[in-house]
Amino acid sequence: MSAHTHDDIDWADRLAQLRMADTLDAEALAPVARRLVAGLPERPVVVDVGCGAGGMSVLFARELGRRDGGTVVLVDATPALLAEARRVVSAAAAGSVEVVGQSGDLADPELAGRVPAADLMWASGVVHHVGDQQAALRTLAGLLRPGGVLAIAEGGLEMRCLPWELGVGRPGLEPRLLAARAAWFARMRAGISGSVAMPYGWTRALREAGLEDVESFGALIDHPMPGSDLLREYVVHRVGWLAESAGEWLDADDRDTVAALTDPEGPDFLGRRDDLFLFGAKAIHCGRLR
Ligand SMILES: C[S@@+](CC[C@H](N)C(=O)[O-])C[C@H]1O[C@@H](n2cnc3c(N)ncnc32)[C@H](O)[C@@H]1O
Repeated sequence: MSAHTHDDIDWADRLAQLRMADTLDAEALAPVARRLVAGLPERPVVVDVGCGAGGMSVLFARELGRRDGGTVVLVDATPALLAEARRVVSAAAAGSVEVVGQSGDLADPELAGRVPAADLMWASGVVHHVGDQQAALRTLAGLLRPGGVLAIAEGGLEMRCLPWELGVGRPGLEPRLLAARAAWFARMRAGISGSVAMPYGWTRALREAGLEDVESFGALIDHPMPGSDLLREYVVHRVGWLAESAGEWLDADDRDTVAALTDPEGPDFLGRRDDLFLFGAKAIHCGRLR
């Protein structure tokens, strides 16, 4: 159980998977970082809330290093992830780029007291982990400098990585894993203290938070077969994690199949396959403070 966040997730335990995802996503997200940084003023302040293992801020730091520098502020509620993010982003930052780490809770309305005003505020995969998502967006919008941009990565298309038939268990395991995950997600949201419905999409939510020039775009994650060793390792983690977090919504035979697929000593181990892939899309939604 998490001692730091509202979602009952042990985020520190997910460090290895987040690091692998950062590496695999970097090619698709580098153009996103370039696009978001391109319109910023000189020596901007970029804040990454819920920074996780720091992958996106590595890309922001590189973009700032290609310009006249600036500041990257890392914010996360999980100390182990914040420490890792500081390490990797500092290593990527050239001399004129300053890196600051700040522990903080997105659900804390007083967050503004600890985080500097931003020219670009990035929040990927974190807003849906707080009870009142609309209030969190208002908090983030309130942390922008005039003309500043809030960009959130939420939704998109779930990653796919497995062939339909695996030679073990019933065909179509992956859609069942994702359906189980969706059931887990609904319960996770309902279980957050102070959880309120937000029955509309992210672009409307950004407008409700007082932002203008709201737009969305996608970033395709596309690692075709046969995939690298890293991709195989990531898929083994991902399949095991999906089954672990959402196992109660899976039939017993699917749980057995996952156990076989993730057993490095067994004949069905995913880590030896040459037909794994990673295909999905991130959706990025942006709005500007006038
Ligand atoms: C799904 S990970 C996303 C990490 C990274 N932004 C990415 O896209 O890979 C969620 C991150 O949000 C952090 N987090 C969860 N709830 C939070 C909260 N209330 N305030 C700040 N950070 C939070 C977790 O510690 C974790 O690092």
